[in-house]
Amino acid sequence: MTSFVRNAWYVAAWSTEVDDELRRFTILGDHVVMFRKSDGSVAALEDRCPHRLLPLSKGKRIGDTVQCGYHGLTFDCSGQCVRVPGQTNLPKSAYVEAYPIEERHGIVWIWMGDPDRAETSNVFDMPEFTDPGWKVHHGDALHLKSNYLNVAENLVDPAHVSFVHPTTLGNAASENVPVHVKTDGEAILAWRWIRDAEPIGFFKGFGGFDGNVDRWHYYYLYTPCTAVIDFGSAPAEDAIAEDDRNKGVRIFALHFITPVTETHTIDRWMHIRNTALDDPEAEEVMDKMFRTAFAEDKAILEAVQEEELRPAKRRPIRIAIDKGPLVYRKRINDLLELERTEDLAADPSPAFVYHD
Ligand SMILES: [Fe+2]
Repeated sequence: MTSFVRNAWYVAAWSTEVDDELRRFTILGDHVVMFRKSDGSVAALEDRCPHRLLPLSKGKRIGDTVQCGYHGLTFDCSGQCVRVPGQTNLPKSAYVEAYPIEERHGIVWIWMGDPDRAETSNVFDMPEFTDPGWKVHHGDALHLKSNYLNVAENLVDPAHVSFVHPTTLGNAASENVPVHVKTDGEAILAWRWIRDAEPIGFFKGFGGFDGNVDRWHYYYLYTPCTAVIDFGSAPAEDAIAEDDRNKGVRIFALHFITPVTETHTIDRWMHIRNTALDDPEAEEVMDKMFRTAFAEDKAILEAVQEEELRPAKRRPIRIAIDKGPLVYRKRINDLLELERTEDLAADPSPAFVYHD
């Protein structure tokens, strides 16, 4: 059984990944062909002709339509067939799925569920994207041979940074600091402060801290697949209050998790910072440290995935820091169950038909 929640917005691509060409993307196990229409907006269609199943991405664009490369069936951006060569009637079943798209802040979002439920007001956003006091920078699209649930769990888990990222995002000072977890509306929030301790590598390289700092990590995970990590540091002598994080060097690391298949996930990451706004060199330093850290996550998550696929004699144990991931798994399971129940209600046909 698939583990994908369909009625949700997912990141399909950075805006820079979509152009006039027909390009195939795999999202929630489905093949999608995307391209920019003549008005610049993005079209997304099921990448499979309903006739002989050739991917439409192997056909060609004709204006704002796509012509199948096998027999020339042609589809418009709503998925309707507009031409079947050799006949004048267009069969009703000659259509492909068309997916709602919302493009914002250089990010292309896609809705893979019931199109009638796609509300663009629910696309993830935050005011810092357009606030002149903040600098937005797009990072990479990191491919991981891992199920998306493990990737998401890693992003509501401040405890791993002490061990996985000792040169960048963590250090020994935080090893034994307990993690707090609560739900905050749509988000699951896991956080902790490490007061009056040596700065982590990231804030030695970026932020210029020498002496001891107060450091925070707030991990917000929005079901199903968006993570915002608010982290930063301020001089320990300032003793800033928990709600005064803008007084320090503050960074939002955003992770948009796209399930490709059950064992392949893309993590598109970017960051928004409140300092060194016009400093491209600082940006390069940050990118380099993030790439180091996320390569460490990739190594961990891919090794975990390999073990998960092997037969096991017992279930993994859980410890105190797993509260965020446990809440996340429960929310995903509840959504999957809801969608399964709704599907049954919409299509109550029996699973088999008796013939005598
Ligand atoms: Fe990590």
